[in-house]
Amino acid sequence: MIKLHDKYFKPFISAEEIDAAITRLVNQISNDLGDETPVFVGILNGSFMVVSDFVKKYPKPCEVTFIKLASYEGVKSSEDIQRLIGLTQDLSGRTVVVLEDIIDSGNTLAEVHRIFKNENVKSLKIATLFYKPEAYKKDFKLHYVGIEIPNKFIVGYGLDYDGLGRDIPEIYQIKETQHMTNLVLFGPPGAGKGTQAEFLKEKYNLVHISTGDVFRFNIKNETALGMLAKSYMDKGELVPDQVTIDMLEAEVEKNADANGFIFDGFPRTDAQAEALDKLMDTKDSQINAMVALEVDDEVLVKRLLKRGETSGRADDADESIIRNRITEYYNKTAILKDYYSAQHKYFGVDGVGSIEDITVRLSGVIDKL
Ligand code: IMP
Ligand code: MG
Repeated sequence: MIKLHDKYFKPFISAEEIDAAITRLVNQISNDLGDETPVFVGILNGSFMVVSDFVKKYPKPCEVTFIKLASYEGVKSSEDIQRLIGLTQDLSGRTVVVLEDIIDSGNTLAEVHRIFKNENVKSLKIATLFYKPEAYKKDFKLHYVGIEIPNKFIVGYGLDYDGLGRDIPEIYQIKETQHMTNLVLFGPPGAGKGTQAEFLKEKYNLVHISTGDVFRFNIKNETALGMLAKSYMDKGELVPDQVTIDMLEAEVEKNADANGFIFDGFPRTDAQAEALDKLMDTKDSQINAMVALEVDDEVLVKRLLKRGETSGRADDADESIIRNRITEYYNKTAILKDYYSAQHKYFGVDGVGSIEDITVRLSGVIDKL
């Protein structure tokens, strides 16, 4: 998955598939044109990659030229198309093949036809690598089509989103559930994670998925996954990641209309973080941030000892046990901090202060995602 500006895109068409489609176009066109020396006309900017790869494969002599049209802003195709660079050579009597990267509404193609109307070319053929039949509103014939795609925005291989993405050698497709905010929440014992999770849930209408709770629920209700997990636990073995992921997936599916999720207690390892990324990918979504409450060890120790006085939790009463739990936490989460930092998704939030203060800090991070 990649992010360009504010949008997320997922892998859609590989470089190999593109290459195969170009080869098919080259074969069809060179067969049809026989010994003509065609002029291939690329429509800039998007078509530079197609044209380059296409003519490299073209088995016979050919000419190449470009026209430059500006047809859209951002994600939407716009109706008014400007000619920035028109035809710069006389093409009368020539066999012309327009090479497009993508045909969407067909507005650009209409302009291309206007340009060629008075050119007296011998023949004008239209070839496009990508074609969105559901979006096409014109009835100009498309003589050669590489790959038909659904009406969803794509980037890569010459195509951009607001300037970015043209350089990517494969095609990525926009993700539709962009609005989701999915957080991985971390914090050492005593950092106030539970309190803050409650608040985030309310404020952002998120579903809090605590892996511990999910396990207990599945085991208590003897679900198939719960029984499977229990069979490992009974043998004293770790529950395989896939079983945990399957349980989380069931939770995500149960709450399909949520604004997002707070994952709590998962992931713990790189492999789990990757598995979670894959799961979110299949839901057309993504983890937006790892949010970690940062609290100084001494403050944590004080807080937990104080909690121990009233909670009666044995693990809150003994200072050395508390310190061990804190050390353990840092050992385990360091890997994840690295994992999410590498994706620029790690956000440490100062967890010292009043509940309200910390809440404001967390909101500051989430509002900017
Ligand atoms: P049309 O004029 O609607 O057929 O769209 C043609 C132009 O819109 C293309 O040449 C692209 O510049 C742009 N476009 C249409 N769909 C996409 C897309 O999915 N990704 C990136 N650009 C697109
Ligand atoms: Mg184009």
